[in-house]
Amino acid sequence: MKGMLKFLIAAAVFTGVAESDSTSFTIHVAGDSTVQTYKDSAYPQTGWGQVLGYFFDGARVKVNNAALGGRSSRNFIEEGRLDGIMNAAQKGDYLLVQFGHNDRDYSKEARYVKPEDFPGYIQQFVDAGKKKGVNVILVSPMNLNGSRNVFSTGSNNYDARGMMQTIAKNNKIPFVDLNMKSYNLYNATYKNIPDYVTRYLYKKLEKGEYPNYPDGVNDGTTHFQEMGSMGHAQLICEELEDNLKNNTNLSDEAKAALTTLVSTIKKRYTIKVQTNLSNYNGLITQTQYFPAGSPMTLRVTPNGQTFEKWVDDDCNELSTKQIYYGFKTKARDITYTAMFKGGSACQKIDHGEEGQGGDGPTSSSSGGTGSSASIDTSLCFTGVADTLWRSPIDMSKPEISDGSTDTDHPGYTGVGFYNLTNASTSKAVYNITSDQSASNARVMVRYAFAGTANRDMKITIDKGTYDVAFPPTGSWDKWDTVYIEDVWVDALDFQVTLASTTNDGGPNVDMIAFDIKGVYRTGCSPAKVVNDANDTTLTIVKPVREMRVQPATAKTFNALGRKVPASESRRNQPAGRYYSR
Ligand code: GCU
Repeated sequence: MKGMLKFLIAAAVFTGVAESDSTSFTIHVAGDSTVQTYKDSAYPQTGWGQVLGYFFDGARVKVNNAALGGRSSRNFIEEGRLDGIMNAAQKGDYLLVQFGHNDRDYSKEARYVKPEDFPGYIQQFVDAGKKKGVNVILVSPMNLNGSRNVFSTGSNNYDARGMMQTIAKNNKIPFVDLNMKSYNLYNATYKNIPDYVTRYLYKKLEKGEYPNYPDGVNDGTTHFQEMGSMGHAQLICEELEDNLKNNTNLSDEAKAALTTLVSTIKKRYTIKVQTNLSNYNGLITQTQYFPAGSPMTLRVTPNGQTFEKWVDDDCNELSTKQIYYGFKTKARDITYTAMFKGGSACQKIDHGEEGQGGDGPTSSSSGGTGSSASIDTSLCFTGVADTLWRSPIDMSKPEISDGSTDTDHPGYTGVGFYNLTNASTSKAVYNITSDQSASNARVMVRYAFAGTANRDMKITIDKGTYDVAFPPTGSWDKWDTVYIEDVWVDALDFQVTLASTTNDGGPNVDMIAFDIKGVYRTGCSPAKVVNDANDTTLTIVKPVREMRVQPATAKTFNALGRKVPASESRRNQPAGRYYSR
């Protein structure tokens, strides 16, 4: 079953970039630590190659980010990485090349490249591409944080920019001047807010700002946060478009290839960020230009003023956290406002409807928002959720199932409940979209089961599998709830799988709910949430009694496989402590 499932998923993903589709291709990326892809455990650290896919039509473009920290143009080639790219590449693919940071590092022999040798190595990338029919594009290295542009001309500088520009010119290929674009961004656009560059774009993090860096980290000159790399990816797109318009030095072949590449760049929307104060003088996220479905962070660092919440242009509350991350941008221009105490009241801002894919699919290499074409809208939650369970999800009709959708036991919510076949192999699989990421979400499962022995199930949510006990509720008509703690959820599409562990299948399952906002059946919309948790008419589920049930096999590992110390596990706290109703 598992193998079959994997196959189905692989097949579904693969149809996006079918081999027979001559208009689909891969963008390969060669570079260093400012470009590479990082693990979730390093978040918010991000390289631009990691997020480039958000800017391209995911149905036609795949990104192969081969960049790796510590690599210069020389050791990247010496280690066989250029050969590796060319072995994987197809004629008609693209290769973006950015080097300079480690080439310039004269303190490390393994990396250093004498300036006079640099052009020779970069030319090797161009030649390898020519041989294979891969379109090479040179990207000059972004500036280090500061007013001196070490990758440009000037005494004691390493003019990677100038050398790459010359090579691009000689070979009549595009030159993406990320160096000058980033220099101007840090030193002109954001000239008066240097702390913004250091703390919001580069990786200088204060203690406690991000869970992965509890003690903070002082890397404010070289490496980037997600928003820094998203901004660089946006600059790269601007430069590609600019080359197509203004670079008169391209070969016919390079121009044709660039035309195709630029046609796959997605429409960018204006994401305006403001406050409700006229005299705000702290830091705040600056206006961005990202395609729909991009990861976005909203952030303020007040300077004396009291921050209350983030709201969107419909005055919906998004978060009361100063750093709000892990959500995706919409398919329309949008304004976000940081509301401060003493500022003007929220005023709705007129805006158009969200786009419906008229500008191409919203999916990217790192997971899209899924198709809404085939969703049975009766499965979408249309009520108003309470603040305790912000994301209620109907479980009566799974996408993949061993069982039936039934209505013969009253008390269920929505259109019915799901009855898993009485067998140890029974499964129900649901496609879920999350607009948010969380490392400690709480999930509730509403079920009924008239029996004597437990009908425990393994429940998989995103990357984590949890052993969940389902003790009898006394009657098939009596619904109750169990909870799963510390659930890791990424802001993307994933599946929830209910798998029985006994020959009796599982209990009848009515719904699940997440305590975080913005988790829903793929193709539906996030549930609306009211602020009044005491309004019982709006409460979707009132557990009959407290059941914080976890069996002896309860997970002691969190979803990423990290062991959760007993002291940190909320499950080991006295019952009722977190659920006082
Ligand atoms: C009964 C009950 C069903 C339930 C089944 C079971 O038939 O009516 O709703 O699913 O038992 O044992 O699973």
